[in-house]
Amino acid sequence: MTKPHDDNEQSHVDRREFMAAAAGMAAAVLAAHETNAAGHASTPANFAPEDRVARPVSAGSRILITGANRGLGFEFARQYAELDTRIIATCRTPDKATALQELAADNPGIVIEKLDVTDLENIDELATKYAGEPIDVLLNNAGIGGGAENQIFGKLNYPVFFEVMSVNVVGPIKMCEAFRKNVEASNLKKMITVSSSQGSIAEVMMPMLYWYRSSKAAVNMQMVNLALQMRRRKVIVGLVTPGATATDFIPEPFRSRIPSIRQPEVAAADMMRNIDRFTLENSGSYFNYDDTVLPW
Ligand SMILES: NC(=O)c1ccc[n+]([C@@H]2O[C@H](COP(=O)([O-])OP(=O)(O)OC[C@H]3O[C@@H](n4cnc5c(N)ncnc54)[C@H](OP(=O)(O)O)[C@@H]3O)[C@@H](O)[C@H]2O)c1
Repeated sequence: MTKPHDDNEQSHVDRREFMAAAAGMAAAVLAAHETNAAGHASTPANFAPEDRVARPVSAGSRILITGANRGLGFEFARQYAELDTRIIATCRTPDKATALQELAADNPGIVIEKLDVTDLENIDELATKYAGEPIDVLLNNAGIGGGAENQIFGKLNYPVFFEVMSVNVVGPIKMCEAFRKNVEASNLKKMITVSSSQGSIAEVMMPMLYWYRSSKAAVNMQMVNLALQMRRRKVIVGLVTPGATATDFIPEPFRSRIPSIRQPEVAAADMMRNIDRFTLENSGSYFNYDDTVLPW
């Protein structure tokens, strides 16, 4: 095992984290934190009163959103803009993001940036551009389903698995790594990822969506890990879910077969309310759109 790097080096591994790793994952996790079966971070008694206070987004808060050009990402941008926040709205092809361009034209607090979350160099370049600038909420929204037809056992499309994992799992953790100092330097200090109830192993009833479900279960684990990692730095990590929502994500004919399907403006508002609920004490939790806590 190599020596830990200094805090100002890129790896960001400090002595305590290095020692925890050396002591073994099980011992480190048990010593630092326990997570119960209900998808909720446990609540050790050593939280300061301010760590239990919810930190809502308000005018002037700065939010970085991935996949902000359409669907839920666009809805996040639209509704956060109404709160007079400052938004870094990222998307893969800004030239084609007409609705987002129009939104930005009406809201000077919105800046559009080109970002593909599978392009790790692109992420680093954007982080370099914003170095030293606080970001209150890093919102990992971009995600893909992979197509139900590619995830049928017996006809599994294996290359699609890697695409889904790249967007839904690698992208979010790389964003958190690249922008961690921006979040640490902010007032709200939140790293939020849009997960899905499909990532809940406890809730699986029917076999389907092998790739997508695996990706959301995996990103849940990444973020629980990260919540532990960042706790000492007072950074809050959270998972939110929108429920089945009428975006391009659920194409026809599936969409009309879901009578309870939700509208994007409602789903985004529900997630924004849950993003506000996060505190250091409940960091690492898995909040469903209806304010309940999903089981892992
Ligand atoms: N809709 C639902 O029912 C539902 C339910 C549970 C969870 N979710 C989650 O909610 C999040 C948003 O979904 P949505 O419903 O808004 O889906 P959507 O309408 O299909 O939008 C997906 C967004 O992700 C972006 N994206 C895809 N690959 C990307 C990449 N490599 N780099 C950057 N951006 C990328 C898309 O950009 P392009 O336009 O460039 O493709 C688009 O902006 C996802 O994480 C999804 O898993 C959705």
